[in-house]
Parts: sequence; C-alpha cells; structure tokens
Amino acid sequence: MIDPSENAGAVSSARPGGSPVLVTGAGGKTGQAVMRALATRGVTVRALVRRPEQAALVRGLGAADALIGDIQDRKTIAAAMQGIRAIYYICPNMHPHEIAIGEMMIEAAQQAGVKHFVYHSVLHPQIESMPHHWAKLRVEERLFESGLPFTILQPTAYMQNILAQQQRILQDGVYPLPYRTGARLSLVDLADVGEAAAIVLTQPGHCYATYELCGTRPLSQDEVATAISKQIGRDVHPQVVDLADWREQARRSGLGPYQIDILSCMFRYYDAFGLVGNANVLGWLLGRSPTNLSEFIHRSFIV
Ligand SMILES: NC(=O)c1ccc[n+]([C@@H]2O[C@H](COP(=O)([O-])OP(=O)(O)OC[C@H]3O[C@@H](n4cnc5c(N)ncnc54)[C@H](OP(=O)(O)O)[C@@H]3O)[C@@H](O)[C@H]2O)c1
Repeated sequence: MIDPSENAGAVSSARPGGSPVLVTGAGGKTGQAVMRALATRGVTVRALVRRPEQAALVRGLGAADALIGDIQDRKTIAAAMQGIRAIYYICPNMHPHEIAIGEMMIEAAQQAGVKHFVYHSVLHPQIESMPHHWAKLRVEERLFESGLPFTILQPTAYMQNILAQQQRILQDGVYPLPYRTGARLSLVDLADVGEAAAIVLTQPGHCYATYELCGTRPLSQDEVATAISKQIGRDVHPQVVDLADWREQARRSGLGPYQIDILSCMFRYYDAFGLVGNANVLGWLLGRSPTNLSEFIHRSFIV
C-alpha cells in the first residue's frame, strides 16, 4: 500500500490565476497547443517567442505576457524565468544545439528557483540513430541530476504532421512518404498533448514522472491512408518517395542541411523499425480515450 505522504509529486505546480507558467517555443505548433489547453484552465501564461509578429498570436491564445527573443540568449532566458512558478520547456524543432540549450534552461530554472520543470521530450529518446531523440535523452539526464521537481512528457509523432501532405492527398489521392508504407507508427493528436501538458501543470501528483504520450496503436502507412480515404470519401494511396529525391526537394524548399540530415536519419529509422508505442498512459492521464486517427482527420481535413 502506498503511503500518501511518500507521494513526492503531490504538489500543484500552477494554480489558475497564480504566478505565471513560462511556455517556450510558444509560437510553434506544440507551443500553441499547450497554450490553448492552459488558457481553458485559466492559467496565467508567459510566452517566449522568437519573432515580434508571434507576440500577437500568443496573446490571442491567452498569454498574459509575451517575451520576444532567442532561446540561446542567457539574458532573455533569465528574464523569462523571473517570477514564474513553472516552465513548459519546448526546444525549437531540430535545433543543432539542443543539448546546450536544454542545459542552459535547467541552469536558469535552478537559479530562478522554479518549482516545476516540465520537459517536452519525445517518444523513445533512447534511439541514438535519431540525433534529435538522443539529444532529448541527454537533457532528461541533466534534469534528473538538477534537483528540480520535473515532469517529462514523451509524445510520439503528431497526427498534425499528416496535414503537410493535405494538398497532395486531396488533389491527387496520394500520400507521399520517404519510408516504406508498411512502417508502423503510433500517432498522437497535438490537442491531446496540449491537454496532457495542462494537466501535469495544474493537477497535483505528477512530479518526477515520465509519461509516454501515444494516441494510437502502431499504424502502418497503408492503414493511415485507408483511414484518410474513409473520412474524405476518395481513394488515397501511400506512395514511397526516394530519400535522395526527398532531400533534393527539401533543399529546394529552403530546409537547412542540418535539418535535412536529421530528418533523413529519422526516415531511415522509421523505414527499418517504425516508432511504436502504447496509448494506455495518455488515456489514464486524460481520463478518456485519446483522439483516434479517424476523429482527427474528420476534424482537421478541409474537404
Ligand atoms: N513534430 C512532431 O511530431 C514531434 C513529436 C514529438 C516531439 N516533438 C518535439 O517538439 C518540439 C517542438 O516542435 P514543433 O513541431 O512544435 O516545432 P515548431 O512548430 O517549429 O515550433 C518551434 C518554435 O520554436 C521557435 N524557435 C526556433 N528557433 C528559435 C530560437 N532560436 N529561439 C526562440 N524560438 C525559436 C520557432 O520560431 P520560428 O517560427 O521563428 O521558427 C517556433 O515558433 C521539438 O523539440 C520536437 O522535437 C515534435
């Protein structure tokens, strides 16, 4: 039997209307989902964004305060941490200095006396051949050593990634992929991830926990295409794009060489092993079944 006094996580890190929660990367896909969920719970949010035009966006999503600056700038980070109760730390996507930024964020949180450090990690950060996963494992390790009360969320690939192909799907009935169609991935709806983030930031009992966030069982890309077909009412077929062709296309569309290499590593891994997880933890955390792929497509595709 568990003695409740030994439940070290039994503190609420962010009361609605209390000291702010800092959300980094707030103008991005993940940041916006987290902010939406925090706003519905009345949590006071300070948002860190990179570009001035993102300040209006995050204020529109309910941020009380919007700071503009580079996440690598120590002074910006020290100012952002002042007076906050908790941080939801999202590292910019595929950043070459992910480990150094994570270490700096942890150090700044220690100096500012932050009461709860929630880290947006990734499913299976143990995978060394995907550098953006491996970097997150290193940051998790620093967090264990920091003495800070922490929670780690490890979401799998977002369902929202499919929307990047929405036009090809709707126009041509083709779902292009730079890995094999039989590769199985567990997916998650970002809205569920945002809700999970808001829960761990506002409800007691989540300190020192690490939660894998998956919304589906592992689905092959053939199954994904079938689910899309059913929802949009037209045939959709997955189509494998040669990785060299994908790299050339990505280069022409302006993606940097580091990001192209990282994504290539990821696609090679998906091709060989997929990315498989289990939806039980997210269901428990949300107190309901996570959003399934059909519900997501029905809600998100503009047919
Ligand atoms: N996509 C997935 O399926 C998935 C799954 C699990 C975990 N994740 C993780 O989630 C995190 C966020 O991903 P995302 O998809 O939300 O990325 P995103 O939409 O690109 O958002 C990242 C945000 O960070 C900002 N940013 C970039 N460089 C910055 C800098 N130097 N200083 C301050 N802000 C900066 C970006 O601003 P700009 O708009 O100016 O670039 C953007 O608003 C990543 O760590 C990723 O590994 C993603």
